[in-house]
Amino acid sequence: MNLIKKILTAQVAVLALLAVSAPAFAADALQKKDDAIVERIKPVGQVCITGEECKGVGAVAVAAAGPALTGAEVVTKYCGACHTSGVLGAPKIGDSADWKKRASEQGGLDGILAKAITGINSMPPKGTCATCSDDELKGAIKQMSGL
Ligand code: HEC
Repeated sequence: MNLIKKILTAQVAVLALLAVSAPAFAADALQKKDDAIVERIKPVGQVCITGEECKGVGAVAVAAAGPALTGAEVVTKYCGACHTSGVLGAPKIGDSADWKKRASEQGGLDGILAKAITGINSMPPKGTCATCSDDELKGAIKQMSGL
């Protein structure tokens, strides 16, 4: 009889403990669920309002502009496709005589740079590097011509 009483008392104690802690536990779980939902439905982009601080825009701008490429990188990525083997009559990389002749016809390095920007005959505008700055194109021309 005494033993049964003890077991019952213990069970009541456990139940009482559960009753106290359960709501707290449930609230905590709910909070976590809310956080997960907020995280899932948050907007993918942000609108920035003139005059107000807007975080994250700087990073986007940097990503869009990208770091400047060296002349060698531009040549490898874009110009080499034609200028390595002289496709369509393109002046070959390292053929300084051809590059010099062209430069003197166009009034120097800046002259052929201008032609590279607009394109000339089979040479496409900016040599297919639409995102290249004038400086990057100039670096590439220097790299190919040795001028
Ligand atoms: C699709 C092929 C092609 C690509 C790619 C190309 N070029 Fe050319 N390029 C040519 C051809 C062809 C010529 C010769 C055009 C002519 O004189 O008829 C030329 C000529 C030039 C000239 C001499 C222009 C002049 O006034 O004589 C420059 C400078 C030049 N390319 C720069 C570049 C640069 C810089 C790149 C890479 C960013 C590049 N090219 C990529 C085909 C190409």
